[in-house]
Amino acid sequence: MPSGGAAFACVCAVKTTSLWLETAQPDRQPALGENATADVCVIGAGIAGVTTAYLLAREKKSVILIDDGTPGCGQTGMTTAHLSNVIDDRYKEMIRLHGVEGARLACDSHRAAIARIESICTQERIDAEFQRVSGYLFLSPEHDESYLDEEFEAARQAGIEVEKLLQAPVQGFQSGPCLHFPRQAQFHPLKYLNGVIGAFTRAGGRIHGGVRAQKVTGGAVAEVETAGGHRISAKSVVVATNSPFIDMFAIHTKQAPYYTYVVGARVPAGAITPALYWDTHDPYHYVRLQRTTNAELGGDNAEPLDLLIVGGEDHKTAQASNTEERFGALERWMRQHYPAARELEFRWSGQVMETQDGLGFIGRNPMDADNVYVATGDSGMGMTHGTIAGMLICDLVQGHPNRWEKLYDPSRVRVGAVGDFLKENLNVAAQYASWVTPGEVSSLDEITPNTGAVMREGLTKVAIFRDEAGQLHRRSAVCTHLGCIVGWNKAASGWDCPCHGSRFDAYGRVINGPASSDLGPA
Ligand SMILES: Cc1cc2nc3c(=O)[nH]c(=O)nc-3n(C[C@H](O)[C@H](O)[C@H](O)COP(=O)(O)OP(=O)(O)OC[C@H]3O[C@@H](n4cnc5c(N)ncnc54)[C@H](O)[C@@H]3O)c2cc1C
Ligand code: FES
Repeated sequence: MPSGGAAFACVCAVKTTSLWLETAQPDRQPALGENATADVCVIGAGIAGVTTAYLLAREKKSVILIDDGTPGCGQTGMTTAHLSNVIDDRYKEMIRLHGVEGARLACDSHRAAIARIESICTQERIDAEFQRVSGYLFLSPEHDESYLDEEFEAARQAGIEVEKLLQAPVQGFQSGPCLHFPRQAQFHPLKYLNGVIGAFTRAGGRIHGGVRAQKVTGGAVAEVETAGGHRISAKSVVVATNSPFIDMFAIHTKQAPYYTYVVGARVPAGAITPALYWDTHDPYHYVRLQRTTNAELGGDNAEPLDLLIVGGEDHKTAQASNTEERFGALERWMRQHYPAARELEFRWSGQVMETQDGLGFIGRNPMDADNVYVATGDSGMGMTHGTIAGMLICDLVQGHPNRWEKLYDPSRVRVGAVGDFLKENLNVAAQYASWVTPGEVSSLDEITPNTGAVMREGLTKVAIFRDEAGQLHRRSAVCTHLGCIVGWNKAASGWDCPCHGSRFDAYGRVINGPASSDLGPA
């Protein structure tokens, strides 16, 4: 902790939105007023859906892109936007699960995704602050150098450029030996997304906001039914809603929702070398810089400043309620490792879908018609996975071969991943015990304004939110996907399901699948 640590302890002025949403608010899009027809309907306007829609529109397909809110306000607005082909489950594990050939293909696909983002920025003149930077993987205290040596060997086998260094270029703390990966990258995800949406509409694409897709029926002519009662008919449908709402079991038993936290602190411009930094802790810490200005953060001058963005403290969604401790631990870690960090400016959090074998599920929806596609399982590398989804699904829709098709096939089961599959599904099964446990509170008085809690009422449980004015809002606490009991998420002020990651706002309205309907009446 630096000598001035206590001076930075106050969190009263800290913004709880992300840096990206603060500095590049996405535009609201018009509602869908009537039934529509297109070659392709893409559902979900995060990086996966927007990239897919854009690439298909460039191929002269007529495309309708819909989102139930404002584009970019899902997990794409909450990311830290490292662009990397250093797979975060590690190449040693990639080779164990997918073989050397599979690991090489994975490495190649993420490399190609970074290059595609770079070329889209150039081609469409998008100033998304794309920057090539180095990546550094350094040891956390519980690991010794052999960890790096093994990963070095595996990474080389997978075909990634890597070297071992005695020290990462982090001013102020001794990182010890590390692996250096050149030609990684970073960008401003929402400046990018807004730019790609602009390019998509210039290419003839149609985009609508506030349109919730409720049902998808594949077949010769696929159909999307919206909550507003409209129908979109299309030759193909792409469900890019981060967690697909059209799937009950096939995918959701192979991926698990994890919640992750971010803090952002000012550092004097130039005090820290711009790069991506990761440690080997489990869950790992992830670090980058973002150049911004005082004015962008609401100040009265355009003085440049750097924001140090540190993420980590992941846990299974809705299975930890100590939000303050998580943010506190992250901030302490940041100040120990980056003593140049000054006052805290941001705290935010979000969800990632971790697949059992470390790679996304991208392609034809299992057990569905051939013209229904999904993109999910971002595994904390959703910027590149979302871009891979765009490239891969664009080929599949057009009937073109793609060398990544098998690797990302949503129907796949890797023998080596069975242990993880069992562990995660036993964890899900254990969540059903919440049906018989007491509630989080036993009296309404324990629920303070702007918070929620689950209370037992006879044989069932009720999710109760008290708004700022003190009024109570009651919904059933039973998740509408497969019946687990939701829990209150303090960081996001909403209800999360611990089983497969469905999320609901404070009033019980569904905001993230696999659930496709709101929490029921209490
Ligand atoms: C804190 C944090 C840090 C991260 N850091 C990184 C990183 O450094 N690098 C990296 O590569 N990845 C990172 N990720 C992961 C990455 O941000 C996500 O994987 C990625 O943004 C997911 O994009 P998406 O398009 O799949 O989903 P989203 O961005 O969530 O988009 C899905 C969209 O679908 C909409 N939607 C949902 N249901 C419906 C429906 N029924 N009808 C219509 N619309 C619907 C939602 O409103 C949303 O806009 C991070 C994630 C978090 C939370
Ligand atoms: S998300 Fe599956 S039961 Fe809630």
